[in-house]
Parts: sequence; structure tokens; C-alpha cells
Amino acid sequence: MLKSTEAYAPPGVLPSGLSTEVTMSLITKPVGQIAAETPAAIPILEGLGIDYCCGGDQPLDRACAARGLAVEEVVARLEAAASSSPSSPKDWFRAPLGELIDHILEQHHEYLRAELPALENRLTRTLEAHGEKHGEMLRELEQVYRGLQDELYAHLHKEEMILFPAVRLMEQAAAQGRPAPPAPFGSVNNPIRVMRFEHDNAAHALARMREITNNYTLPPDACATWQALYAGLRQLEADLKQHIHLENNILFPRAAALEASGIES
Ligand SMILES: [Fe+2]
Ligand SMILES: [Fe+2]
Repeated sequence: MLKSTEAYAPPGVLPSGLSTEVTMSLITKPVGQIAAETPAAIPILEGLGIDYCCGGDQPLDRACAARGLAVEEVVARLEAAASSSPSSPKDWFRAPLGELIDHILEQHHEYLRAELPALENRLTRTLEAHGEKHGEMLRELEQVYRGLQDELYAHLHKEEMILFPAVRLMEQAAAQGRPAPPAPFGSVNNPIRVMRFEHDNAAHALARMREITNNYTLPPDACATWQALYAGLRQLEADLKQHIHLENNILFPRAAALEASGIES
């Protein structure tokens, strides 16, 4: 018998802040899961340079070791942040999946559709104004940016037309206690695998743009358009991290667990 999905979370995932049980297992917990359970952990992980987004599968102890950090100190900081922060404004482990999808569409897909053409325009104008002196660097930036932009447009389309509608149907079927209708792509894990691969590609493009621009360092002769371009690219990076985090660490595991619960029942 299928159960209602309202409080559905993947096995081993607790839906709220750090409990004693979570604290005990924090050291070996994947960093993406820590970020998903405890939003207050996110600024700490970011400040330490720990990738909770596309590198979210890595356990905390290994992520710390890779960066030369003492895991006990990091755990203490995460616990302090979890206990001092108010409860999460929205518990995406408990919210219906349809609501999480709506949030991703409204907050992140709409943002990209508005911001990507604006950034492209700023990049073109910066290249026109500064191409003579800074052409090599700006053309390389343009090439990486356009690749990212094209892949993102196709990616949003696939999520909106294929994956998200299928997840909504699965959730509706589970709520009504009936099996989900068969999807043309088979298991939901198939499109999820593709989406994760594309998220990794986006993360590589963001890292490459940081390299090319020396962490978005402006030259002394940068005009206002160039300044707005770098500010916008920084914002794009921050927004994409949050977007990918919600999908990789919450939506996809919950959708896969929901499908598995239907198969097993
Ligand atoms: Fe998305
Ligand atoms: Fe995505």
C-alpha cells in the first residue's frame, strides 16, 4: 500500500535541525545532507570552502581532510549554528514535492530566464568597450559563459517538461494510494542521473569563470557595465548553488525514495 508523501524523506534523512542522533553521525554524514537538514550550516560550509552542492555526496570527515580542517572543530561550529539558529523557514523535507518544485521554478528557473540574457548583454557590451586591451580574457569568459547559458536553457527545459511533471504525477498517485503511471524514461533515476551530470557541468563552468577572471577581480579601467557584469556573475553563482542544492540534496533523493516506496509496496 502506498503511503501519503507529505512527510516523506529518504531513508536516514531526518527532516529538521540537528538532533542527538544526527550529531552522533555528523562526522560521516554527506555534506549535502547536512546542508539540506540544517540551512544554518550552509554559510559555515561555504566559508570553509566545502562544496555541499555538486560535491554533496562526500562525508564531512573526508571533505574536512581534503581541506586540511579538523573535523571536530567543524562539527562544533555546525552544532553551535544549528542550536542557535531559529528553525528553518521552510522544511523542504516535509513540504509536498509539488510545493518544492513550485519554489524551484519561481525562485530559480524564473531568475535564470530573466538574468541570463541580461548577463549576456553586459558581456557583449564589455567586450565591445574593452576588447582592444582585455580581449583575450573577455573572449575566453564569453566562450565559457555562452556554453553554460546554452546548457542551462536546455537543462531547465528538460526539468520543466520531463522530470518535474513526472515527479508531480508520482506524488499525486502516492497520495491517492495508487501506483504511479509509467514514465517514458523508465525509472526516475534515469533523468535524475542526467540532471546531476549537467549540474556538475554547470559547477565546472562557474569554477572556470572564477579562474579566468581571477575571482572576479576588476581591472582599474573597468567601466560600470563590467562592474555590473561581475556582480551579476557572482549572484548567478550563488543562486545556482542554492538551486542545485535543493535539487541534488532534497528533491532528487526524495523523488527516488518515493518511487522506491511504490516499487516495494
Ligand atoms: Fe532546476
Ligand atoms: Fe537542475
